[in-house]
Amino acid sequence: MADFELTNRSKYNQNYKTSIANPEAFWGELAETNFLWKSKWNKVLEFDFLSPKIEWFKGATLNITENCIDRHLKQNGHKTAIIFEPNDPNQESEFISYIELHHRVNRFANVLKSKGVLKGDRVCIYLPMIPELAIAVLACARIGAIHSVVFAGFSATALATRIKDCDCKIVLTSDGSFRGAKTINLKAIVDEALVDCPNVSTVLVAQRIHSEITMKTNRDEWLQPLLDQASESCEAVAMDAEDPLFILYTSGSTGQPKGMVHTTAGYMVYTAYTFKTIFQYQPNDVYWCTADIGWITGHSYIVYGPLLNGATTLMFEGVPSYPDYGRFWDIVQKFKVNQFYTAPTAIRALAKQGEAFLKPYDLSSLKVIGTVGEPINEEAWHWYNTHVGQQQCPIVDTWWQTETGGILISPIPHCFSGKPTYATLPFVGIQPALMDDNGNEISDTKAEGRLCIKFPWPSIARTIWGNHERYKNTYFSAFEGYYFSGDGAKRDENGHYRITGRVDDVIIVSGHNLGTAPIEDAINEHKQVAESAIVGYPHDIKGNALYGFITLKKAVSSENHENVKKEINALISSKIGPIATLDNIQFTTGLPKTRSGKIMRRILRKIAGNDTSNLGDISTLLNPEVVQSIINQTQTK
Ligand code: PRX
Repeated sequence: MADFELTNRSKYNQNYKTSIANPEAFWGELAETNFLWKSKWNKVLEFDFLSPKIEWFKGATLNITENCIDRHLKQNGHKTAIIFEPNDPNQESEFISYIELHHRVNRFANVLKSKGVLKGDRVCIYLPMIPELAIAVLACARIGAIHSVVFAGFSATALATRIKDCDCKIVLTSDGSFRGAKTINLKAIVDEALVDCPNVSTVLVAQRIHSEITMKTNRDEWLQPLLDQASESCEAVAMDAEDPLFILYTSGSTGQPKGMVHTTAGYMVYTAYTFKTIFQYQPNDVYWCTADIGWITGHSYIVYGPLLNGATTLMFEGVPSYPDYGRFWDIVQKFKVNQFYTAPTAIRALAKQGEAFLKPYDLSSLKVIGTVGEPINEEAWHWYNTHVGQQQCPIVDTWWQTETGGILISPIPHCFSGKPTYATLPFVGIQPALMDDNGNEISDTKAEGRLCIKFPWPSIARTIWGNHERYKNTYFSAFEGYYFSGDGAKRDENGHYRITGRVDDVIIVSGHNLGTAPIEDAINEHKQVAESAIVGYPHDIKGNALYGFITLKKAVSSENHENVKKEINALISSKIGPIATLDNIQFTTGLPKTRSGKIMRRILRKIAGNDTSNLGDISTLLNPEVVQSIINQTQTK
């Protein structure tokens, strides 16, 4: 039997080689020997990147929750599956064993069934980082309902868009959430969203902050009494390997968010294997990923990947700065965390506070530390390595996306190490390619280009909910026969990849993907706005911040400028969420455009980044004079 461990370079080389030479044999054997199936597949892989159509383990049946929970019960039933650390450090942490998780998931699943939720129905989950969130996700999977988790920082409008897009009839939420010193009334946001969602017939509300909320008769119900009455056993529905497991929305460069659809078996196999090998998880380790389950990182590496491995996974409700900037390290010490996974924006924010916040804590339990979500700059990498890893822990700079389901490029501890700003080498089964401006794959090892993947891996998203054409256009049309990631990358002479960032109109702010189009749409709703263009510019903590160049319909007195700016940010906050508000707004007399009327963002990006020395040829613009006027204005600001 093959040895799938990746504990040294030669094992990586061997497994990588086999996975490329014979993917079906490799993934077939890995799947067969490591998971619980109700019935086996007819074929490991069928695909066509042109349609595109991708199917893994076709014909097999399984339930992912039996793999996440039931199969651990006999040997490890009393082991802690989830540690819940509340926002308030004085409140007690919760330790949920695999046995308790089993009961709680089954109860929740029975409640969903009692509300008429059937296999294939979409369930919207809009919950804070409390155990009910992970349990709700697993409860859906137990009965074959498709979960659509919406990050609980999104606004009512953003929530409504997502509920309507996949036609959810039920919403799971809470009265509110704690975030540091703040409380947020989530139920009020849901109420506002549902004005626009007549198809939602049921809202189940978990109690978290004990706030006054309004309950709509015949629609809203408290969750806990229903759970108390429900049975703690619930049969795990047999799912086809390719049945959707969940939908998760991600911003596109234009319009509507994209509901990425992930299916059951391939996602299971890939997230489990990457979790175990990249984080080098050992049976008694405590693993902590600081992401929110509302993002793909939380789906794959707080819930599914860890539980599939019978791991102990920590869920933290709060923020890194509360009650002070030592909170993360306090938690690491308290639970003797062994693997710690966070985002560059958090690392930069913590580094800025200095080492005094780290000093009081013992971080010697850490074995592997990780980063995800955006390129990590060299300074932040070194700080993380020196002060958090204490130069003892491999750093896994993991590159992947909502669309990829799991990590595609990353260092693997003990196989090959990281180097600052490099995501390094492809994971087993992953075949990256760099494409040049003419659409051809670059054969030289040392190169720079657009990052594509040329062969399917088990956890690739299969479609965009309700819009397969958009899936095809976004990911499979730029380079025929390749999956295009939307990122640019460099490859060094050893074949190590360094991700340089997005090459489309998506801007990553504090690790959150934001499309420029929906933000511009929100701004343009302001009655005084004629036109707007959003670009990103470098920011010390957030990685990128948003800069809005906005032309108004009529000149507004300068005293009123500040009011209009506030109103614009309030509009963005209500349409998308506070994460999308602009750090800088400049009112301009016009926007630089090509003769065909396209806004030249490239020029605006340079102005926003204060790099106007080489703007290239602007003489062909429709309105070159606007460029100088914008630059003059920035200089007098
Ligand atoms: O640009 C890449 C960046 O985040 C994008 C994916 O964002 P999202 O779908 O929200 O998923 C984030 C969590 C997996 C990518 O297209 N990105 C992610 N990880 C890295 C990264 N950029 C550089 N280095 C990384 N390690």
